[in-house]
Amino acid sequence: MNLESILFTQGFGSRRQCRALIGDARVSIQGAICTDADADFAVDSGALRFSVDGIEWPYREHAYLLLNKPAGYECSRDPQHHLCVFSLLPPQFAERGVQCVGRLDQDTTGLLLLSDDGKFVHQFTSPKRKVPKLYVATTRHPLDDAQLAALRDGVLLHGETRPSAALEAQARDTHTLALTVLEGKYHQVKRMIAASGNRCEALHRERIGGLALPASLAPGAWQWLDDTGLAALRAG
Ligand code: URA
Repeated sequence: MNLESILFTQGFGSRRQCRALIGDARVSIQGAICTDADADFAVDSGALRFSVDGIEWPYREHAYLLLNKPAGYECSRDPQHHLCVFSLLPPQFAERGVQCVGRLDQDTTGLLLLSDDGKFVHQFTSPKRKVPKLYVATTRHPLDDAQLAALRDGVLLHGETRPSAALEAQARDTHTLALTVLEGKYHQVKRMIAASGNRCEALHRERIGGLALPASLAPGAWQWLDDTGLAALRAG
């Protein structure tokens, strides 16, 4: 693939902008500045790295990312009242079409996946695909056995005809609930907690499938999701 196409597919602007970056000697590849936009490089080994303005990037056919979402950010591309999660990422990701894999509410924190692989996004957001998601909620009132049992047995959410049941519901302490759900309906966890007779004061996503939010990833920070992470996601 030529250098112009490498930059273009990785989200560094229009073809004309990519050509200009290269012509201005702002791009290095294989350790050396390259000013030839038509120079060819093999991208299929998975090991190609390039730099733009001294910042190194791997070439990835598709981007799979993991973000530790802080509170106060909307997953929408066109946020109404808050900042946008894309403002936490380098701009080339939005440019290459990265989108959120399912949404978290603006006040929900924790594990958020993003990708520009449409098939992957569809697979993981399809209601048919039951992927367990572990949430940790802080509740307003103390948890009790009746609430936990109701969550496990199923609670009827407003406007729904069938009860929604948690795969697991456990109290970590008096006001901390660990809840695993398979579906991703609108405000699902908050509505389930309300339907069980309590109220959700704060919500955090710890895990999707077998993929846990890495303890080393600070709120607001992102990282690439590698093959091990993708396998863990599917294994859950
Ligand atoms: N359930 C909710 O209520 N909110 C979220 O952000 C995610 C799951």
